[in-house]
Amino acid sequence: MASLTLFLVSTFVISAHGLSYTQPEQVHLSLADGPAEMVATWVTLNSTDFSIVEFGIYDLNLVAKGIEDRFVDGGSQKRVMYMHRVKITGLKPGNRYTYHVGSLDGWSEVYSFKTMKNGTVWPVRLAVFGDMGDDNAQSLGRLQEETQKGHFDAILHVGDFAYDFHTDNAAVGDAFMNQIEAVAAYVPYMTSVGNHEEAYNFSNYKSRFTMPGGDGLGMFFSFNIGPVHVVSFSSEFYYFTTKYGSQQIANQYYWMEADLKEANKPENRAKRPWIISMCHRPMYCSNRKSTEHCGNKENIIRVGMPKTHDFGMEEMLYKYGVDLHFSAHEHSYERVWPTYNLTVCNGTTSSNPYDNPAAPVHIVTGSAGCDEGVSPFLPTGFPWSAFHSDDYGYTRVTIKNTTHLFLEQVSDDQKGKVIDRMTLVRNKHYAGMYDCHV
Ligand SMILES: *[C@@H]1O[C@H](CO)[C@@H](O)[C@H](O)[C@H]1NC(C)=O
Ligand SMILES: *[C@@H]1O[C@H](CO)[C@@H](O)[C@H](O)[C@H]1NC(C)=O
Ligand SMILES: *[C@@H]1O[C@H](CO)[C@@H](O)[C@H](O)[C@H]1NC(C)=O
Ligand SMILES: *[C@@H]1O[C@H](CO)[C@@H](O)[C@H](O)[C@H]1NC(C)=O
Ligand SMILES: *[C@@H]1O[C@H](CO)[C@@H](O)[C@H](O)[C@H]1NC(C)=O
Ligand SMILES: *[C@@H]1O[C@H](CO)[C@@H](O)[C@H](O)[C@H]1NC(C)=O
Ligand SMILES: [Fe+2]
Repeated sequence: MASLTLFLVSTFVISAHGLSYTQPEQVHLSLADGPAEMVATWVTLNSTDFSIVEFGIYDLNLVAKGIEDRFVDGGSQKRVMYMHRVKITGLKPGNRYTYHVGSLDGWSEVYSFKTMKNGTVWPVRLAVFGDMGDDNAQSLGRLQEETQKGHFDAILHVGDFAYDFHTDNAAVGDAFMNQIEAVAAYVPYMTSVGNHEEAYNFSNYKSRFTMPGGDGLGMFFSFNIGPVHVVSFSSEFYYFTTKYGSQQIANQYYWMEADLKEANKPENRAKRPWIISMCHRPMYCSNRKSTEHCGNKENIIRVGMPKTHDFGMEEMLYKYGVDLHFSAHEHSYERVWPTYNLTVCNGTTSSNPYDNPAAPVHIVTGSAGCDEGVSPFLPTGFPWSAFHSDDYGYTRVTIKNTTHLFLEQVSDDQKGKVIDRMTLVRNKHYAGMYDCHV
C-alpha cells in the first residue's frame, strides 16, 4: 500500500531533473549512548540536500542534522537508495518526544519516542523475536499494538528480517522496513544479523540499520539499557567462511571478549548487573531438520571451529557471566534449562531451576512469522530442553531490578495467550559466577 501511494504521488512530482522521490520512508529508531541520545534512520529514493530530525517535548522546535549514505543494492537493477542517519543528542531522560524526519524536500509523518530514564535503576521491558518476514509477519499486529501503547522500552530482532532484504532488487526489504515502521519509529529496534541477510556480504542489513559501536556495521556491537548490557554478535560469520573468509570470526571474538571484560569491571557490573547476549543461530534446540544446530555436538557457534575449537561462544558466555542468551533461526520457541557443555546445571532451589543457576540460560525465539512455516520438533527431546512450542509469537522480557528477570512467551496463534513463563533470579552477577562441573 505504501509503495502504491508513493508511486501515485511521485508521478505528479516531476522535477526539472526528471522523476524525484524524496519523501522519507522506512523510518526507524536505534539506541546510541545513554538516555540523552537516539538515532533515527530512514530512506529516500533520491538524494536530498539535508538529513534532518525536528523534535521536541511540546512541539518540533529542536533540530538535529545527520548524514546521507548512498546505498547500491547488489541485484541486477543495481537499485540506488539513500540512507539517512541522524543522531539526536541532548535529550532529557524519561520524556516523550515527538519528531519527524526529512528535509524541505519532504517530511515524514510525526512520530514519538520516549527516552530511557536516567541511571540504571528502573525496570526494562523488551520484546524479543527473530524470523519475522515481510510476507506472513504474523506477530506484527500484536507488536504494533503493544509498542504503541508503550509496553516496551526496546525491541530486539534476533536475525532473519524480510525474507529477504535483497529479494526483487531489494523491494522486499523496502516493504518490510515500511511494515515495521509502526513499531520501529516508536521504540529503538535493535538487531542481530541472520542467514537471510547474507546476500552481497550482508550489505542490505549493514546499510538499513544504524547500530552503535562495535564494527560500525551492526554485525557485532553492544549497548546499555538501564541495568542491562546487551551484546549482539553474528553467528553468520561462522557459516559463510568459503565466501567471506574467517577473519571476521576472530575480529568479533576478540572484540566481544574485550567488551565483556569491560562490562565486568566491578564498577560497571554493579551498575549494570545483567548481561544479555544474542545471535541468530541457536546453540541449543530440539527441532527436526536442523542437523547443523540442534543435537549437533559440534555446533560451531557453541564449540567453535572444526578440530581446533577456536572461537567457541558458549565458553565465552560462561566465563564472563552472561545471564541470558537469545537466538532464533528455528521457527519456534524453546526454553532451555541452565546448561553448559550439554550438561544441565540447575540452581539449587528445587522449585525454580533458574534461581541462581550454575550456567547461562538459552532461549530460542524464532517464531515471529515468515513465509517458511514453523519448525517441528524431534519426537524425543534433549535433557536440557525445558519447554518448546511452535506457535507463532514473540517473547516479552522484564528486567525488574538487579535480582529478578521475568520472561514470558506470547502465542499469536492463541490470541496473545502467555504459554510459558520463567523467572531468572540472580543475587550476584560477576565473571566466573557459574559453577557447572562438567
Ligand atoms: C543523569 O543523572 C546524573 C546524576 O544525577 C547527572 O549528572 C546527569 O547529567 C544526568 N543525565 C542526563 C542525561 O540528564
Ligand atoms: C531518482 O530516483 C530514480 C529511481 O531510482 C531514478 O530513476 C532517477 O534518476 C533519480 N532522479 C534524480 C534526479 O536523481
Ligand atoms: C565483507 O564485509 C566485511 C565487513 O563486514 C569486510 O571486512 C569484508 O572485506 C567483506 N568481504 C568481501 C569478500 O567483500
Ligand atoms: C565438554 O564435555 C566434553 C565431554 O564430556 C569434554 O571432553 C570437554 O572437555 C568439555 N568441555 C569443556 C569446555 O568443559
Ligand atoms: C533441572 O530442573 C528441572 C525442573 O525442576 C528438572 O526437570 C530437571 O531434571 C533438572 N535437571 C537436573 C540435571 O537437575
Ligand atoms: C526485585 O523484585 C522482586 C520481584 O518483585 C522482589 O521480590 C525483590 O525483592 C526485588 N529485589 C531487589 C533487590 O529489590
Ligand atoms: Fe535463519
